[in-house]
Amino acid sequence: MVSRVIPVDPFDLVIFGGTGDLARRKILPGLYRRFRDGQMPPDARIIGAARTDQDSAAWRLFVGEAIDEFVAENAREPELIAAFLGRLSYVTVDAKGEGGWSALKAEMRPDTVQAFYFSVAPSLFGDLAERLHSFEIARSDARIVVEKPFGRDLETAQALNATLAEHFDEHQIYRIDHYLGKETVQNLMAIRFANILFEPLWNAQYVDHVQITVAEEVGVGGRGGYYDQSGAMRDMVQNHLMQLLCLTAMEPPSRYEPDSVRDEKLKVIRALQPLKGDDVVRGQYKASGDLPSYRDDAENASSLTESFIAMRVHVANWRWNGTPFYLRTGKRMKARLSEIVIHFKEPPHSIFDEDAGSRPNVLSIRLQPDEGIDLSVTIKEPGPGGMRLVDVPLDMTFADALGPEAADVPDAYERLIMDVIRGNQTLFMRGDEVEAAWAWTDPIIEAWTKRGDKPAQYDQSSAGPEEAMMMMHKDGRRWREISK
Ligand SMILES: NC(=O)c1ccc[n+]([C@@H]2O[C@H](COP(=O)([O-])OP(=O)(O)OC[C@H]3O[C@@H](n4cnc5c(N)ncnc54)[C@H](OP(=O)(O)O)[C@@H]3O)[C@@H](O)[C@H]2O)c1
Repeated sequence: MVSRVIPVDPFDLVIFGGTGDLARRKILPGLYRRFRDGQMPPDARIIGAARTDQDSAAWRLFVGEAIDEFVAENAREPELIAAFLGRLSYVTVDAKGEGGWSALKAEMRPDTVQAFYFSVAPSLFGDLAERLHSFEIARSDARIVVEKPFGRDLETAQALNATLAEHFDEHQIYRIDHYLGKETVQNLMAIRFANILFEPLWNAQYVDHVQITVAEEVGVGGRGGYYDQSGAMRDMVQNHLMQLLCLTAMEPPSRYEPDSVRDEKLKVIRALQPLKGDDVVRGQYKASGDLPSYRDDAENASSLTESFIAMRVHVANWRWNGTPFYLRTGKRMKARLSEIVIHFKEPPHSIFDEDAGSRPNVLSIRLQPDEGIDLSVTIKEPGPGGMRLVDVPLDMTFADALGPEAADVPDAYERLIMDVIRGNQTLFMRGDEVEAAWAWTDPIIEAWTKRGDKPAQYDQSSAGPEEAMMMMHKDGRRWREISK
């Protein structure tokens, strides 16, 4: 099956922070891939904007190098790269100054989709929004894309929302959470709402518990100072893990459209119960051989910031009453893995002998490293020797079922940028969602800060601290193995 690429409308996309790390690693290589696949119309234009004083030719060189470094070799076609670079120009602009803005205005065309990607520190969002208006650059149908972190607590998120709202309506603001751009995350919605099979079982009566894991192998070295001000709760749980939780737990929206989906996600966040002290385990990785400890990486010998967190979360509504959601995320773990796993209950009565063995069904939705969905079902072990039961995976790897083209899915960033151009906000966070998420996380962070809780120490390349295992053990459950 060949994937159908539908070109988007012609656009002018301005990337503020066009010389930065995110632009280099994700945004620009992703845009090239969309161009290569024919999704970007020939008259689309991309304008880099930052303080670095350089001309368009110098920026094209920078972008060409980024493509060489971050696009797979088999997708690098010199003629296409040259054509893509021909779509690019650069303007020197200071978000806090007056220089460059008139030049930027002169670059913009009147009749194309207008999008501004704020790939800069959030402290500059207000300046950019203000100048896009005072220089009469942004039209009333312009879209702005803002990056995480969206605030560090409810108060700062509200302030950021208020600043943006001074110049842009909510329907113009695209708050990126790149987890929502992953193919499998959208597939989770297809699995749930396009099949009759799963939804009747998707509740506390049939689901024993849900595990959501985002494990990273890397530490915080290189950005330890920033991370130490944030920690796993702010950096990962408040946004990515909560979004995954929402999509797993939400009621069926009436339509697959932005506000229907986001209304349902918001209801989940509002239904989250406050956590008790023993619902949370926090950890910091220890030194290991030549590898520094978290505190060394953070250059803060007395840091109490967590590089790992595990939580037991309850969604207080009819559907989920009594079914815990276990969330965990950490740095320097055994493997890089992101997955949502639905552990179903055992059948109410087994007709087989005890020694036949039995295990509950497990549906795992893997976001990385290899996106895919896998359902374990129990069958009879083939062969003579009576009735012995064994688990087998029903592997829904896209490439097997749909052909190799289906495995070549766009990266989350490129998919989301195309959604911005199409004006589709379904996979972006609404302002009230972000605020509700902070309203839930703030008291949890305040409670451990007030108590002065010390994170437990854990070994590198492990599954986190022993205390996280104990949390599950007390509930009579086990974490899934973290493996590639
Ligand atoms: N990197 C990632 O993987 C990642 C992941 C998730 C979210 N984010 C978020 O994405 C945003 C950008 O991150 P980044 O890693 O790309 O940061 P970065 O590498 O530090 O880049 C910052 C960019 O902002 C520009 N800039 C700084 N001050 C400016 C000013 N006064 N006016 C105009 N441009 C200015 C810089 O260019 P000049 O110095 O030339 O002005 C540079 O292009 C941040 O909000 C970050 O939290 C990044």
